[in-house]
Amino acid sequence: MLYVDNVPLQGKKVLLRVDFNVPITNGEIQDDSRIRAAIPTLKYITDQGGKLILCSHMGKPKGKFNQELSLKPVAFRLQELLNREVAMATDCIGDEVKSMLEDLQPGSILLLENLRFHPGETDNDPEFSRQLAELAEIYVNDAFGVVHRAHASVEGVTKHMETVTAGFLIKQEMDYLQKALKTPEHPYVLISGGAKVSSKLGILNNMIDKVDRIIIGGGMANTFRKAQGYGIGTSKTEDDLIEDARAIMEKAKNNNISFYLPVDYLTGADMQANQPNGVFPYQNVAEEDMILDTGPATHTLFSEVLKNAKTVVWNGPMGAFENPTFSQGSVGLAQTVANLEATTIVGGGDTDSLLHNCGIADQIDFISTGGGSFLEFLEGKELPGLKALEQ
Ligand code: 3PG
Repeated sequence: MLYVDNVPLQGKKVLLRVDFNVPITNGEIQDDSRIRAAIPTLKYITDQGGKLILCSHMGKPKGKFNQELSLKPVAFRLQELLNREVAMATDCIGDEVKSMLEDLQPGSILLLENLRFHPGETDNDPEFSRQLAELAEIYVNDAFGVVHRAHASVEGVTKHMETVTAGFLIKQEMDYLQKALKTPEHPYVLISGGAKVSSKLGILNNMIDKVDRIIIGGGMANTFRKAQGYGIGTSKTEDDLIEDARAIMEKAKNNNISFYLPVDYLTGADMQANQPNGVFPYQNVAEEDMILDTGPATHTLFSEVLKNAKTVVWNGPMGAFENPTFSQGSVGLAQTVANLEATTIVGGGDTDSLLHNCGIADQIDFISTGGGSFLEFLEGKELPGLKALEQ
């Protein structure tokens, strides 16, 4: 794989695919981590005298223009962060873009409008890919969050360009995640949380022979407890995955991997409840109660499991953390992980915002900018965006 610093950039038009798919409410960016994460590559290109053309998707506009999913707020934030002008195009291909490119000076920056306003982006349409490719002489992908998508700006475009490289963020993501897969220090603990087992089956199956201990929390733990025959009240489960949950527990047992589920819960009427019904041991959940957080005994147990860890990979919260009534299990675990003397790697949007909300994101060694791509990388899958960079 070539990296952006392996090729001369002076005076060249450089198309940089970034993942600026950031959360925006009423035009306000809620978390700009993904924008900040792209800055080292972006600065390198402009410092080298490249003419920088930035492209990204935002949300899922399904091939149609949608003002709410415009990248304009991102252009403003980027200007603030860089303290310099960022020009913005009203489209990502076409005549207006071409004429803006004619005026682009070495070291200056143009942000294209949301790629997904064109259906050709998600369809990986060859003609759309070609139109993107003709904008520049050098292609750089630094959008780790989208490398699991075979989309035009991620995959198709590389077939039409001579010089195809990766940026520094992709390099950093791959270094950490390769280490997590291939050369981790032990004891190695995988923490898997969040609502669904279905989205975590792949990572659990791929990591089970690499880690020493597995901690499961959040809604997905309910399916495992149900598989063991325990009542889980009105909590959601994925009944069609009970067999898979059993198989994972069986495999962990056969491979001598310690497997931990929550031992007590905070329950409530529903996710919006503003007070819990109480703390209950896992054997004792009332039929009308919903499991919404892990309890204090679980916190003690999980802290003990993590104590001497040397590598920790974490994806997914322990409960309905968006509601402060049920955030303590997730917040407590975040604080424990942040204080470990271990290589700590975290991925996924919810876990990322949890850490930022707690103000401890900077105590984690590496927070991946990927959600789906983080999981698929650790599932051991071949990712089309990375494969395309190997040409
Ligand atoms: C993400 O938010 O995980 C990436 O930007 C990819 O977005 P997508 O799931 O809409 O493809």
